[in-house]
Amino acid sequence: MTPRLTVLGAGVMGTGIATLVIAHGIPVTLVDIEPAVLERARASVDRQLRHAQLLGATPDGVAPGELTTSTSVADCAGSLAVIEAVSEHAEQKDKVLREVSGIVAPGTVLISNTSGIPIDELAASVERPGELVGIHFMNPPYLITQVEVARGPRTSDRTMESVRSLLDLVNRRGIVVNDAPGFVTSRLLHPMINNAARLVGQGVATAEDVDALMTGCLGHPTGPLRTADLIGLDNLADSLVALSERLGDAAYLPCEHLLDKVEAGQLGRKSGAGFYEYA
Ligand SMILES: NC(=O)c1ccc[n+]([C@@H]2O[C@H](COP(=O)([O-])OP(=O)(O)OC[C@H]3O[C@@H](n4cnc5c(N)ncnc54)[C@H](O)[C@@H]3O)[C@@H](O)[C@H]2O)c1
Repeated sequence: MTPRLTVLGAGVMGTGIATLVIAHGIPVTLVDIEPAVLERARASVDRQLRHAQLLGATPDGVAPGELTTSTSVADCAGSLAVIEAVSEHAEQKDKVLREVSGIVAPGTVLISNTSGIPIDELAASVERPGELVGIHFMNPPYLITQVEVARGPRTSDRTMESVRSLLDLVNRRGIVVNDAPGFVTSRLLHPMINNAARLVGQGVATAEDVDALMTGCLGHPTGPLRTADLIGLDNLADSLVALSERLGDAAYLPCEHLLDKVEAGQLGRKSGAGFYEYA
């Protein structure tokens, strides 16, 4: 039987991860609590798959796996692995991981795509903490071939072996890091984006000029504020709050300019406007 994966959360990352997996011929069940989100998700996965194919980022001669959508977490039963990509709120992750953990068979790897809530904190929600691991896919997951793997102190060797096999199936390279708030990538990237937004809010430079300086002078591929729009400003603000709380450092809190944009519904690409406008 072809292995099937379940992805929980059909937002920016859930749809991107589903695209990556089906592009490698593996069927996916994509679960979200919002039926309207699931309706949009199917079109979004189709669009991302075409984008990946156009850029030559999908394996040759592989028929895409089937995409099934569902509003029921119970549909994760029988999956090879479950990838959690719900909003960056510890209580939402706790609720959904608790539920999944009671459904899947022992030996099923539970993966969190959290941007930085420590894996060992999330492990308190599951029945078998050894089976939980972090795989921090980068955005867009179907184009970026490297991922950050966060191993919790209780993640078992067997789970790490399964992670290696799983990443091989989707042709991704994992860099394993130890558990910590924000791991490595969010701990470095999120404060930089926050500071970039703060500079714009203080009128030091426009978003365009901040990004131009970071790309033209410092070799950043897109600039922090274009990256912010790709991530989603609501997710960035949530991730910064999660980091600040866990590090006990108010310097990580989202700056006023970022919060004003979230308040105004300017969430980046997904809402049509953020630091930039999108057609
Ligand atoms: N956006 C990025 O670039 C990025 C990159 C790496 C990691 N992440 C992490 O990935 C996760 C998802 O981020 P996102 O940007 O896709 O968020 P998003 O807001 O775009 O999507 C989250 C989705 O989760 C759904 N959801 C909430 N509770 C649920 C539940 N109990 N069951 C099923 N679905 C549920 C919501 O309805 C929403 O559609 C977060 O932990 C985030 O920090 C995001």
